[in-house]
Amino acid sequence: MKDLILNNAKIFTEGEIKEGGIAIDKGKIIKIGKDPNLPPASKTIECNGNLILPGIIDVHVHLRDLDLSYKEDFLTGTRAALAGGITTVLDMPNTKPRTDNPDIFKLKLKKAANKIVCNVGFYSAIPENFQDILKITKLGAIGFKIYPDHPYSNFDFSNDDQLSSLFKLLQNTQLPVTIHAEKRDTNKLIKTYKEANYPDIEAFLKAHNANSEIDTVQRCINFIKDNGIKLHFAHISTAESIKRIIEAKKKGLNFSLEVTPHHLILDSNLLQTKKSFSKMVPPLRKKSDCNALWDGINSGFVDVIATDHAPHSLDEKKSTFLEAPSGIPGLETLLPLMLTYINNKRITLKRFVELCSENPAKLFNIKQKGRIFPNFDADLVVVDLKKKYKINSANFFSKAHHSPFDGFEVQGIPIMTFLNGKLVMDHREVLAKEGMGSIIKPQN
Ligand code: NCD
Ligand code: ZN
Ligand code: ZN
Repeated sequence: MKDLILNNAKIFTEGEIKEGGIAIDKGKIIKIGKDPNLPPASKTIECNGNLILPGIIDVHVHLRDLDLSYKEDFLTGTRAALAGGITTVLDMPNTKPRTDNPDIFKLKLKKAANKIVCNVGFYSAIPENFQDILKITKLGAIGFKIYPDHPYSNFDFSNDDQLSSLFKLLQNTQLPVTIHAEKRDTNKLIKTYKEANYPDIEAFLKAHNANSEIDTVQRCINFIKDNGIKLHFAHISTAESIKRIIEAKKKGLNFSLEVTPHHLILDSNLLQTKKSFSKMVPPLRKKSDCNALWDGINSGFVDVIATDHAPHSLDEKKSTFLEAPSGIPGLETLLPLMLTYINNKRITLKRFVELCSENPAKLFNIKQKGRIFPNFDADLVVVDLKKKYKINSANFFSKAHHSPFDGFEVQGIPIMTFLNGKLVMDHREVLAKEGMGSIIKPQN
């Protein structure tokens, strides 16, 4: 007797949709097939002809917790993930205190272990003492994150010697290195533009201008050449930087490229109406930039869509535009938005699964996840592709009850999420028990 059958479904497996069911046992997918060919199981869940996809792996999430738990904590952030059909998230290190030394890294693992309800891998920032890189790697970091843009790191990205010795150590870890590609000291620049009497939104956009991203991307291209680093570009937002990354990839550099739903769908005009609720870094760009990101998706050069879920409290977002922190929640809007674009044929289902499940698993060495295939973990999401509704951030499981997508008409909703073969979200009810998620460490 097997544990569970999901029957009467459309299943996305091996690049196409098959009709039938999935047999699950001990947390693993054991068979995909027509109902009469599946082994008997003690439980059956009826999928009513809906579509089953591999659970989403979101490689860019700020779960916060520790001293910023008023914005989000391990429980609320991972509940939001399950509600959004996301079964694994990679957590960013710009926490308070910063995740950049073995003690804080251990503290986070310990605190997360009995709180998380989806799977979580943990990033480390660049430690002040570069020698700690090896220790943090041994503790199971999923990757290292570089913020050349000041407040999150102490090392100087513009210093060639520092960067060389850093990259040497990072290369030894064989872990992906993710970069937030913007120049340093944007806050200082904002002040300069304010003093020159630019309106708030203009001052912000000028400080975070396209060249800040493009120049940082170019520095990586020049500097890294072929030294073996796996460099992952987070939230790329401009047509020119995507063009340069694609050229570098064509020359054989080991780069991967991530875009967010908000940079694909929204442009900077929205800032005039949504104000700080559409404020994030990098900022929203021009419509032509959005189109270049879509082209990168459809030509196969974009590797990952990730949310950059960056929750802040409603009160913080309600303060003046320049005082309000940058960042928007994204865990509960990714799937509804992308299903809408699948329905509208802007992206194929195959590409979507590659970008949100298969490629993240491959790039971050997460084995046995990201595909619906025998022996893979039964991390799954069942979606209703027909359901139409409006996004409403008041219903988010995240603590961040705001979104620039509020009021957006979408078509497609996650109706059930499975983690290791267990039903953890059922029609917007999160059933998972605290601590049910696993801590993900890279498996080479
Ligand atoms: C992020 C945050 O709030 O942590 N904000 C954002 O606007 N994206 C930081 C980041 O991802 O750079
Ligand atoms: Zn960033
Ligand atoms: Zn981020």
